[in-house]
Amino acid sequence: MYKGIELLIVEDDESMAKVLERLAKEYKWSYRVARNGVEALEIFNREVVEVALMDIKLPGFSGMQLLEHVKKGNFATEVIIITGVGTVETAVSAIKLGAYDYLTKPFDDIRKVAVLIEKARERYQLVQKIKTLERNTTDQFQFEEIVGKCNKMQEVYRLIESIAPTNATVMITGESGTGKELVARAIHRRSVRKDKPFIIINCAAIPEQLLESELFGHKKGSFTGAIADKKGLFEEADHGTLFLDEIGEVPPSIQVKLLRVLQEGEVRAVGGNQSRHVDVRLLAATNKDLAKLIKEGRFREDLYYRLNVISLHLPPLRERAEDISLLAYNFLKKHGDRLKKTVDKISVDVLQTLQNYNWTGNVRELENTMERAVVLVNGDTIYAKDLPPNILGDSFYLTEEAGVKDLTQYSYQDANDKALASFNRSYLANLLRQTSGNISIASEKAGMDRSNFKKIIKKYNIDTLEFKHADLHMYKNKG
Ligand SMILES: Nc1ncnc2c1ncn2[C@@H]1O[C@H](COP(=O)(O)OP(=O)(O)OP(=O)(O)O)[C@@H](O)[C@H]1O
Ligand SMILES: [Mg+2]
Repeated sequence: MYKGIELLIVEDDESMAKVLERLAKEYKWSYRVARNGVEALEIFNREVVEVALMDIKLPGFSGMQLLEHVKKGNFATEVIIITGVGTVETAVSAIKLGAYDYLTKPFDDIRKVAVLIEKARERYQLVQKIKTLERNTTDQFQFEEIVGKCNKMQEVYRLIESIAPTNATVMITGESGTGKELVARAIHRRSVRKDKPFIIINCAAIPEQLLESELFGHKKGSFTGAIADKKGLFEEADHGTLFLDEIGEVPPSIQVKLLRVLQEGEVRAVGGNQSRHVDVRLLAATNKDLAKLIKEGRFREDLYYRLNVISLHLPPLRERAEDISLLAYNFLKKHGDRLKKTVDKISVDVLQTLQNYNWTGNVRELENTMERAVVLVNGDTIYAKDLPPNILGDSFYLTEEAGVKDLTQYSYQDANDKALASFNRSYLANLLRQTSGNISIASEKAGMDRSNFKKIIKKYNIDTLEFKHADLHMYKNKG
């Protein structure tokens, strides 16, 4: 079984780190030491850490930022902050942010430090126990094919679990690309019908005349082209599940017929005069506002209530930002495996870009972006150049075609400034990426002296730390 790290020491001060290391050895805690925020982040994103002892002052990052990352990212780690004397306010705000406790250095009694760490470990283990009890799924990050760890998705998982075994009709709503079809599949798989057919029909894709015959079947000769009897999807799905996708697009004439099936449990083929009983569980999905369609008289209210016995709403990706990197790594693995390419790292600037982008196409758009990146990438790390320009935005990195980008909407001065800033950021970022953030080597490559180079990267607001560890990894170890 995978075992996490019991103590992570985040301390830039050499001698202090040594003291804590000795303590960890004495108490036989498995431990690691990070010298700065970036190193610590890397460990947090790769490993399960029980307790982190973090100096509030760190090079590059503040301990507060790190604490925020841990808490916002829903990491289970208990954090103890180390502050200098006379900084009680910071300690208090750390507690407010979710730190377990704080210590003031220099320590007057190292035993007290050990006691506090032990207490924090106890709390960590207690919380874990409670979580395990609360959750009956084995993996909190994935449910069937659905990936996501935010609270809203956890609620979705719980709802699926509780409704799947029933025969209730479920209305799945959510914007395009939020995973409605995945949810429908998960419901089927978790139901007693799992070994029976799961059939999908996209009601928007089929013309009215054909839709009826698709759903209910037809008799030979019932219309031109009906050269033989044909079973409808209701019959095909007998004892299984039928997923009516884009239900909002079903024309009124067919809405009536659907209603009848729901009420009577019987279907009648086009051109037939006998009804046949079917045992089908219905799931429906839409990205339309059905309440509005009802008001406009385009969707039958009685059908709506029949279908909407249970409603399940999927949140758009922008409302679950904490899932973005998790999903990105998952798609990296999925498409990497498919294309037989080992790509398992995402640079920090790409992660940030993904985090800040407005995903109107939701998870589908993110998946397409990562798939494209896997196709384009050389090596094992996704960099900004592997993202499409619309996702990078024109404010940050300049793409090849940017030299000819039409900037005439700006004054000459503004256009000139923008192009120059863009060029500088892109040039410097590429150089720093190639040199893993090493300023000496980068400046040499640029043919500049180090101090001038530093001035320029400062001017364009570039943080070299971002390039130091381009393999920030959100994939948590499992098992
Ligand atoms: N939570 C998720 N985890 C993993 N993959 C997901 C998730 N949500 C969506 N996807 C992927 O995104 C794509 C779109 O998902 P899906 O077809 O279920 O969305 P949808 O809500 O039905 O979209 P539309 O309304 O456009 O039909 C699929 O490739 C699916 O695998
Ligand atoms: Mg769909």
